[in-house]
Amino acid sequence: AARQDLAGLRLLITAGTNVEALDPVRLVTNRATGKMGYAVAEAAVTRGADVTLVSGPTNLELPKGLTHVERVNTGLEMYEAVMKHFALADVYIGAAAVSDYRPKETFKQKLKKTDGPLLVEFVRNPDIIATCGEKRAPHQVLIGFAAETENVLENARGKLIRKNCDLFVANDVSKEGAGFGVDTNIVTFVGHDGDEPLPMLPKIEVANRILDKMLSLREGRLVK
Ligand code: PMT
Repeated sequence: AARQDLAGLRLLITAGTNVEALDPVRLVTNRATGKMGYAVAEAAVTRGADVTLVSGPTNLELPKGLTHVERVNTGLEMYEAVMKHFALADVYIGAAAVSDYRPKETFKQKLKKTDGPLLVEFVRNPDIIATCGEKRAPHQVLIGFAAETENVLENARGKLIRKNCDLFVANDVSKEGAGFGVDTNIVTFVGHDGDEPLPMLPKIEVANRILDKMLSLREGRLVK
C-alpha cells in the first residue's frame, strides 16, 4: 500500500471542462477531458486523503475509493459546488478548465438560421479560485493551474498573485505531450519562492509531485 501521508487531510479538487448551453441544441465548451484533475484525485485518495471531487462532464472512470463526487455542467454550477465545500477543505486544487464566459441568454427554442452572421453576447462567469483566494483561512492551501499558449510563466505568476494562491501549475497547452487530453503533462511550478520546471511526466506522476509540494506549502502556512 502507498504511504498514507495525506491521511486526515480534506482536499477539494475540480476537474474537467464546463458546458454552457446556448439553446436546446448548441453548447459552448472547451478541450479539457478531466485527466489531469482525476489524476490528482486518484493520487490523493491513494495517499489517504479525504477527497471531494467536483467534476465537469467526462467519460473517465472515477478513481477507486473516491466517495465524494459532485457532477456539474456549467461554470456557475461548479462555482456553487465549490463554495459549498470550500470552508471545510484544507486544500483546494483547481485543475478544471472553468468557463470564463457563458452566453448571456440560454434561448428556450432552437435559434433559427438567417442569412447573416450569428452574434452571441457572452457574460463573465465568477472566478472560482479567486473567490477562494478572498475567503481563505490562513491554514488553507490553494493551488491553481494555468493553461497558457504564450508568456506561460509570466501569466501564471500574475494569476498566482491576483488570485491569492500558494502555487500555480503552469502548462503550455500548445506543446506536444502537455495539456488537454493526453496522459502526460509538462508543467512548471510557479510559487512565491520561484519557478520549478518539471520534465514531461505521466499525469499521475505530476499529480504526486503537486501533492508533495502541497505538503511543504501546508507546513509553511501552519508555522506562520
Ligand atoms: O483535463 P485534461 O484534458 O487532462 O487537461 C488538463 C488541463 C489543461 C485542463 C489542466 O492541466 C489545466 O491547465 N487546468 C486549468 C485550465 C484553466 O482554466 O486555466 P486558466 O489559466 O484559464 O485558469 C487559471 C485557474 O483559475 C485555474 O485553476 C482555473 O480552474 C481557475 N478558474 C478559472 C476561471 C474561473 N472562472 N474560475 C476559476 O477558478
